[in-house]
Amino acid sequence: MSDYSNLKSDSKDFHKILNSYFLKEKESNQSSYRKELSKIIFDYIIKTDDGSYTINSPDFDGKSETMHNSNGAITESFEKFVKPLKFDYSKNKEIAILDICGGFGYNSAAVIADFLEKSGGNSKIAIDMIEISLETLATALVIPSPIATHNFLKSAIESKLVDEDFAGIAIEKTEIPENIAINVHIEDARKTIIDLKDNNYDAIFFDPYSPAMAPELCSVEFFKELKRVIKDNGIIATYSASSPVRWGLIEAGFYIGEGPIFGRKSGGTIASLDINNINNSIPLDDERTIAISDAGIPFRDSNLNLTASQILNNRKKEREKARHHYKISSAVQTPLFLGKDLKDEKLKRRLIRNLNKVNISDLKSDEAYYIIEPQNRYSKESTKENNSNKRIIEMNKRLLAIIDN
Ligand SMILES: C[S@@+](CC[C@H](N)C(=O)[O-])C[C@H]1O[C@@H](n2cnc3c(N)ncnc32)[C@H](O)[C@@H]1O
Repeated sequence: MSDYSNLKSDSKDFHKILNSYFLKEKESNQSSYRKELSKIIFDYIIKTDDGSYTINSPDFDGKSETMHNSNGAITESFEKFVKPLKFDYSKNKEIAILDICGGFGYNSAAVIADFLEKSGGNSKIAIDMIEISLETLATALVIPSPIATHNFLKSAIESKLVDEDFAGIAIEKTEIPENIAINVHIEDARKTIIDLKDNNYDAIFFDPYSPAMAPELCSVEFFKELKRVIKDNGIIATYSASSPVRWGLIEAGFYIGEGPIFGRKSGGTIASLDINNINNSIPLDDERTIAISDAGIPFRDSNLNLTASQILNNRKKEREKARHHYKISSAVQTPLFLGKDLKDEKLKRRLIRNLNKVNISDLKSDEAYYIIEPQNRYSKESTKENNSNKRIIEMNKRLLAIIDN
């Protein structure tokens, strides 16, 4: 996700105007305020490369991101979230999707478009969409829809906003077909998830801001809730390739792999309890970083109620404790140089200092080779016998054995 922190306005500026216009709509029962907002919004939204629009996130401690990929907001929904699912709608009479961080509803709109194109009309799709921000959902009502199925989202969101007494009147004309159910939850996903049924979802879209901005949805404990609600053969799709997210998913019990590549050099992440759903290993360097360096230390939130800064601070402390004790320092990408020749003597001295602290004598020592040996079998194709989870867990075990010696 691109960093647009140099742009002047964030969505908070638009939210202020939006709140006052929706209030006027409620007081007057007139649709004109919403029409006016759908013109004003153009001063705040950003056109992405495929013509669909995004907006800057609110400012979090001086950090801001666009809500979507600047290479194409709706294209990313299809490429990174819908494509990996490969649903056979004729076999599944009812598909259940959990859309976490629903935002404008682009990911849900994309999966509905896929469903309508491929299902032949015999099956059903049920979507639970969770979004914490009322204003973001209200923005979805006045943003130009990137595809026709987004109008179903507009209808579902509008009904919810009328129920919540945020919107005064129902304006959306699009009727949602009977075989499509969209349930909008306006809440912190950590709260909503507790009440969701076990073993229910065929797919989970996991689309939070980056972990540095929103670590509260990236904790091992939240991922354990995802494990509870997903079906045994369900698939989680996320744009995130972050090391703590990937390790967190593994610690929660998921197999992980690399998702489709769009707008970046490498893909996001696919996770599933069923190894057969994982087609591609994550990149070799990422496996090693996660397995043996402090960069893989995950976010923790044992009662699903800590603030973002508490979670970030706790992780920082856990990394400090781990570094040089049970993990190799991630500084200067130390783990990636194991087994390599290096001409830069200054860098080499620094790397060896880091390695000596965890009982590894040299970049090309026996211990170094022992730890990375599972990656001799690295292949991009992920199989039951040969996959990223196996290699990550084995390298971590080997490092601990060397340290204990
Ligand atoms: C990257 S955007 C998601 C874009 C979205 N999937 C779409 O199709 O438009 C992240 C969204 O997560 C929401 N969010 C942040 N924290 C949340 C939380 N704890 N629970 C639910 N939603 C949250 C934000 O308000 C924001 O709309």
